[in-house]
Parts: sequence; C-alpha cells; structure tokens
Amino acid sequence: MAVDSTSPQNPAENVGKAQIGVTGLAVMGANLARNLARNGYTVALHNRTSAKTDDLLAKHGGDGNFVRTETLKELVSSLERPRRILIMVKAGAPVDSVIESLIPLLDKDDIIIDGGNSYFKDTIRREKECAEHGLHFVGVGVSGGEEGALNGPSIMPGGSKQSYQSLGPMLEKISAKADDGAPCCAWIDTDGAGHFVKMVHNGIEYADMQVIGEAYDLLRSVAGLEPQEQAEVFKKWNETDLNSYLIEITSEVLSQVDQKTGKPLVDVVVDQAGQKGTGRWTVQSALDLGSPVSGIAESVFARALSSSNTQAREEAQDKLSAGLIASTGVAQGDPEFIEDVRKALYASKLVSYAQGLDMLSSAGQEFGWDLKLDTIASLWRNGCIIRAELLGEIMAAYKGENAPVNMLLAPGFVKILEDLLPSWRRVVSKATALGVPVPVFASSLSYYDGLRRKRLPAALIQGQRDFFGAHTYQRVDEPGTFHTLWSEDRSEIQTD
Ligand code: 6PG
Repeated sequence: MAVDSTSPQNPAENVGKAQIGVTGLAVMGANLARNLARNGYTVALHNRTSAKTDDLLAKHGGDGNFVRTETLKELVSSLERPRRILIMVKAGAPVDSVIESLIPLLDKDDIIIDGGNSYFKDTIRREKECAEHGLHFVGVGVSGGEEGALNGPSIMPGGSKQSYQSLGPMLEKISAKADDGAPCCAWIDTDGAGHFVKMVHNGIEYADMQVIGEAYDLLRSVAGLEPQEQAEVFKKWNETDLNSYLIEITSEVLSQVDQKTGKPLVDVVVDQAGQKGTGRWTVQSALDLGSPVSGIAESVFARALSSSNTQAREEAQDKLSAGLIASTGVAQGDPEFIEDVRKALYASKLVSYAQGLDMLSSAGQEFGWDLKLDTIASLWRNGCIIRAELLGEIMAAYKGENAPVNMLLAPGFVKILEDLLPSWRRVVSKATALGVPVPVFASSLSYYDGLRRKRLPAALIQGQRDFFGAHTYQRVDEPGTFHTLWSEDRSEIQTD
C-alpha cells in the first residue's frame, strides 16, 4: 500500500486548492470525480462543454467539494502542486489532444493520469513524451463500469513509482475493497503496465462472457430451459464455485421481460455482439508475444462471427442446414446435463484465467515489467467486471515461493480440473454432435489436452518445415540443430 502523501507539500501555495482535477465528464469521468469527492478530496471539474460540468454540479454537487472550471488553464491553476489531472476522454486521438494542451500549462513533477481504456503502446509513448517535459504520465486501468467508478472500481495504475507515492493513496481510497479489506488497487509497474493488465482483464472478460453465452445456448437448445428458468439456474450457480459478478448479472439479464412485447428481453435483442477493441488488442498482443490465448481469441472471433457478415449468417441458415439433429437426446431440464454444463463452464473459465495470466508472464519478460500475478489477482477480487470468488484462490496459488509455471498446474486447480474433466468432455462431445457452437468450451479443452500431451504433432510440423524450407529441427536424443537433405540422399546434417 502506498504512503499517504496527499497532504500539500507547500501549504501556503496550496491553500484552498483542489487535490485533483478531472477533465472529461462523461459518465465514467463524472462518477470517478464524484467518488473522489465523496472520499473527501476537493475535485476540480472540467469538460470541453461546460454544460456537462454544470449538469454534474446541479445533480450531484452535494457529493463533496467541487471546483467548477471552464478552461484547462483554469483547471490547472485550481490545483495544488504537484498537480494531479485525470483525463477521462475517449481512448486514442482525444487523449493526445488533451495532453498536448496540458503540457505548456504544467510544471515539473505534475502528474497527468489517463483513466481510459488506452492501448498500452500509446501509454508507453505518452509516458516518454511527458517525461521529456519533466512530467509524470500515469496510464491507469479502471474496471467496474459506471457503478464501479462511483462506488469503488478495481484500479490498475502504471507509470513511475514516484508518481504512485503521490497518487496511490487517493486511488487506493476510492477503489473497491476485497473481503479482507485490502484495496483493489496496487501499482503494477512502469509506463504501460497498468493499461496492459487492464487490457488482459478485458480479454478474460470476453472469454468469461462467451463461456456463459455458450452455457446459455446449451441450456436453451439442448436442455430446453427458457430464459426465466435459466435465470434461476444461474442464480443457483452463483452460490457455487462459479460465484462471480458476471454470473450474477446473467441471471438478472435472463429474468428481464421486454416491456414492449412481454417476451424475455434476451429474445428481442439482436444477436450481434459489439466490441470496442480491448479484446481484439489482447489477442493481437498475444500473437506478438506468441502467447496461446486460444479461449480469449475464440471469444473475440465469436463476437466477430455474430456481427461481421450478417448476410452470410442469413444465407447459411438455409444453405448449410443439412444434418441438423432434431432430437437432442437430453430430457427437458435434465439435472445431470445442467450440472455437466456448469462444470464445463467452470473448467473453461479456469482456462481463460490461466491463459490471461500466462500472457501477463510473457509480457513481463518482453517489456521488462515485474508483474506480480498474486497482486494482480488480488486486485481483481472486487470492483472489476471479472470479479469472482475464484480470484481469491488464484491469488493464493501465486503467493510465495511455489508459484506454478501455469495456473492449471497449481495443485488445487489440478484436482478441480480432474473432477470437471468428464463433464467437460461430455458437454463438448454433445454440443459437437448436435451442431451447437461452443468455441471457447472446445478450444479450452484442447488447450488443456495440448498442455498435458506427451508428444504433440508439432514434431511433424517441424519435419514439414524442414522439407520445404530447410527450417531445421532439434532431435530428442542429442543436442544441436539438424536438417535432412530431402532433395538429395535424405541423409541428415548438423547445422549448429
Ligand atoms: C470494465 C469494462 C469496460 C468496458 C469494456 C467493454 O472493465 O469496466 O471492461 O472497460 O465495459 O471495455 O468492452 P466491449 O465494448 O469491447 O465489450
């Protein structure tokens, strides 16, 4: 936990000044500003159009001490030094534009904070640019949506350690608290580390949502459970080891009845999933790192399949309808099948978290960050979208000397997966036989099987690569690099 250094360094100069400024008062910015004010900080407010500032003050001025400003210059001069300015504008060019306007107004050691879902490489670049002006730039991952921003989000700050001395106590104070009282906020590491961790959080979020979607589809189309009935099933599941925010809200969404038609809301929503980009970035970054996040990737592709070529989807419903099986062979509401689906969901969820954490390990090596997986798991325990009971167990698995090389190899998870495996296989087989798509259930199972398989067909791929491209291979029985002279006498030579 950071030392509280939020008291003014120069009392005379700082008297009556705000402790933090927030620019960008759309819902996330407004709610973070309100959260800061409710926690006793004086917050200076700025928005490109002052109407938003006035609206916030009119509706929520009673939350605490706010200072209304109309220009960035006014915002800057209303702040105690070193200044802390939180930018809450749309990721991308708008962030650069605000930074550009702020730089000439700020002094050495002032801190610019970006609390949006920025791409971590932009954060690395911005940190360097700000450092050239003697400024700190802190990319902060914030998760928890509107409600979290107001009542306590999970916060993942990057940037310099020095900046965390000044900023950490505030962020920790407004963050969610885990059951043991620990703040769901901790310094991650330098430059873009915070935004990287938030990006991977979102990748896991995509996979988590997709596996829940696959379970819903199976319960509906194989076990014949209507949304209202499923709402009860998910509610019960939330009392098992699946306990998590996303399972809880799934039950809420499934029980919602459309006010216009009286149908379940889920039946009147168009089945094309949107995405703002963080899941896609996770997969792009994983490809660059060579990190096998197959479940997360499938969840991004599943959204793309749902929404990118709707004409193809429409035509395929007729043209590719051969071989659909009319009877599922599962009785309506069959409790055994329902329990199998629950277990398959939990197993796939475990794989998604394992893949995300494994990606963080690779990124730590690539970018020179000391990413502490137990700490990261600990601050995902509350406030964020993927908060789940499971994260306490993940945190414990990575604590201390015996951290596993892969989450699935932690003794506790080895045992859990052993128990889940038969159900997982039955569900994937059933879904495959019936033509119900389960891309993350299935790819997660293949990941598990791939990880534990003694010999992978990768050996054959190496042979093929050597055949057509002289790409060489290693042998199992002696060190060195080898090549077979495929187009000559097929003898083997050592190349290294
Ligand atoms: C969070 C959420 C939040 C946002 C997602 C939605 O952690 O609070 O992840 O950041 O809701 O970016 O992303 P998609 O629009 O890509 O689903």
